[in-house]
Amino acid sequence: MMTVCGGAWGLQLIAVALLLGVGEAVTSSDPTSWNWRTLYVGEEKPVGDPLDQFGTLKNAKFIRGKHMFKIAGEGANTIFTVNDQGDMFLNLKLDREKKATYHLTAKLVDKQSNVDVDKPSNFSIQVQDINDNAPVFGGPYTGFIQEMSPKGATVTATSNALAVKATDADDTSTVNGLVEYKLLNGTDFFKIDGNGIITTNVANLDRETTSQYQIVVQAKDMPGQAIGFSTTTTVTINVTDINDNLSTFKKTQYIFSVREDMKVESEIGTVEVEDADEEKNKNPKFQIENAVINELLEIKQDKQKNGVFFLKQPLDYETTNRYAFTVFVTEDIVKNSHVNGNNKAEVVIKVTDVDEPPVFTKREYNISVPEEKFPHEFPEPINAKDPDRINRPIRFSIEDISCPVQIDPVSGKLSLKEKLDRELTREHRCQVTAEEDIQGGKKSYVMVNLVVIDINDNAPKLNIEEIYVCESDKRGQVLGTLTATDKDETNGVFTFMLARQSSNFSLLDNKNGTATLTLKEGRFNTEDSGEHLLEIKVTDGKQQSLERLRVLVCQCNSGRTREYCKPHRRQVGVSVHALITILLCIVTILVIVILLVLRQRYRKDTLVTMGKMSGEIHEQLVTYDEEGGGEMDTNGYDVSILTSARHDGSLLPGPGLYAMVKKPQACKGDMAAMIEVKKDEADHDRDGIPYDTLHIYGYEGPGSLAGSLSSLGSSSSGDSLDYDFLNDWGPRFRTLAELYGVDCYPGDCPY
Ligand SMILES: *[C@@H]1O[C@H](CO)[C@@H](O)[C@H](O)[C@H]1NC(C)=O
Ligand SMILES: *[C@@H]1O[C@H](CO)[C@@H](O)[C@H](O)[C@H]1NC(C)=O
Repeated sequence: MMTVCGGAWGLQLIAVALLLGVGEAVTSSDPTSWNWRTLYVGEEKPVGDPLDQFGTLKNAKFIRGKHMFKIAGEGANTIFTVNDQGDMFLNLKLDREKKATYHLTAKLVDKQSNVDVDKPSNFSIQVQDINDNAPVFGGPYTGFIQEMSPKGATVTATSNALAVKATDADDTSTVNGLVEYKLLNGTDFFKIDGNGIITTNVANLDRETTSQYQIVVQAKDMPGQAIGFSTTTTVTINVTDINDNLSTFKKTQYIFSVREDMKVESEIGTVEVEDADEEKNKNPKFQIENAVINELLEIKQDKQKNGVFFLKQPLDYETTNRYAFTVFVTEDIVKNSHVNGNNKAEVVIKVTDVDEPPVFTKREYNISVPEEKFPHEFPEPINAKDPDRINRPIRFSIEDISCPVQIDPVSGKLSLKEKLDRELTREHRCQVTAEEDIQGGKKSYVMVNLVVIDINDNAPKLNIEEIYVCESDKRGQVLGTLTATDKDETNGVFTFMLARQSSNFSLLDNKNGTATLTLKEGRFNTEDSGEHLLEIKVTDGKQQSLERLRVLVCQCNSGRTREYCKPHRRQVGVSVHALITILLCIVTILVIVILLVLRQRYRKDTLVTMGKMSGEIHEQLVTYDEEGGGEMDTNGYDVSILTSARHDGSLLPGPGLYAMVKKPQACKGDMAAMIEVKKDEADHDRDGIPYDTLHIYGYEGPGSLAGSLSSLGSSSSGDSLDYDFLNDWGPRFRTLAELYGVDCYPGDCPY
């Protein structure tokens, strides 16, 4: 191949020629007359050389001039040609690495007839190898070796031994194709064998010193010879870590400052260790030889395997404000390569003071209090203390105003605000606050549970209100069993007793909290009007009540099941309470009405005063221009007298009197308009009373022929008017005449 250098080429050629000369042997046992050898031809042999003839076909039957040789098959007449005498020639350079053997067929034919002289025979041409290829590596290669491995340990790929192998395309049956390996550097630490396996040349490679090696491996063919081709590759060898370094403390003393209110389980400090090993291989163990500290602290490890202290118990500055102890670190290592550093360290924990809220003597107070007892002394006060060294005074308070107890702010003594009734509330829960008695003092809270203790303060009540007796019931019939209930928990046995003896019923106390009602005498009838109401005294040993039991009279069927009962009269009576309520309502309404009236009157008075002052408002009178009973009403009015009076001409001038009392038509609309205006005023009167009221308005209609009847108007002119004519009208008008005849003085009058 073209890569081969000229200097080496001459030598190769000589070697091939030698081979051609020596290796002649009969290889065919063909029964024909072919007698010839396997032919060899040199790889990369130049063409057009006298030595191009590389072999000769031979057949015993061959007669020079008469016969001729011919070839067929792979490369026949192209790469390889033959002359008549059987001399083989090469026309092209051959590359063994492409094709190493050519298979052909040889013929011997008559020159003239072209007929086969002998049977054709197969033969082959072998291309002889020359070293024209260099070894080739498959890399890149990465290997691993554990640190501290013994001498001769094998460098591995991931798990198997790493083989740094090169291949050579040349014939491996010759030295051309064989490869030898050599390390070009790193031979202090590694060696390589003939299979490309790398082993350590020393013990105790230390990752902490050198974690990676780059070594160059050379592969060369023609082993052992100075000539040949070579190639190199780089192999990266990583030294893997083992735990071969002891953990030691970075410092000899660690000081931590911790607030006393630090929560349990929180981290309070870290003691850092030094260890050159990789984190995953570090395995320090921390020890504190101090029982108190071991109670107080727990030591855990962080990711870097440093020791981290966690609080196991709450701190208290007032008890201990400083802890000092020694912490040790040990480690089981595979092989110790470095021994130095501190395996113990002094740790000081300084507890700092924090203003803490008061602490109650109990987590919760459970206090019992008797019902219906007031005032009541609570034996146990609520107590709290400031845990700080300064020991501030504490003030107690209960914020919830619904709490039935109050607390003395200084002594913490509880007292009842009111009587308690167990039957209303059995238990009260109140929160007590304790606060340091300074501005912005710390607070704590505690629950106080008040359990109300029962006393027998309620009378028992019958469980039924009515019972029935059948018409058919005979004497001695049991009507029912009476039971009672009581709101109290603590009761004696209920006892029952008739308040008044009855001629019809008897009650037997069973001495077990029940009583049996029995019929004394039968003959009850639904037709009878009588009501049967029993009054029964029920006691619980201390409290007694008078209970009413109504006995209904019923018609019953044979099984003593009632079918019809005489309806009892419902009590129409109203209770005293209801009566009082109703009375109160009435009084309230009355007071409101009186107030309203007074107010109205006051407003009117002011209006009148104002009117008098301005002179604009006049007293008004409505003229009820009432028409009398018509023609029939002769008893009411004697029209003829009125008429005659008119004819007299003594009445006021103008239209007739009769016409005057007629209702004027125009007046109707006028009146309606006035009412509208008044209604409107009332509607928009903001000072007025908001609810419906009856307004009374005086209105003097216009157009009255009689003129204004207003006393205001008339009083001024009354004197000038002469009503004497009224006396002339006869006895019927005497009263009028008396009224208007003011000028008449006693003795002076006509009557
Ligand atoms: C007993 O029953 C009879 C018949 O119903 C009745 O007339 C009488 O008034 C009852 N006596 C009493 C004390 O209720
Ligand atoms: C009470 O005594 C009566 C009569 O002795 C009996 O019938 C009843 O079952 C007793 N009741 C109870 C609750 O013991």
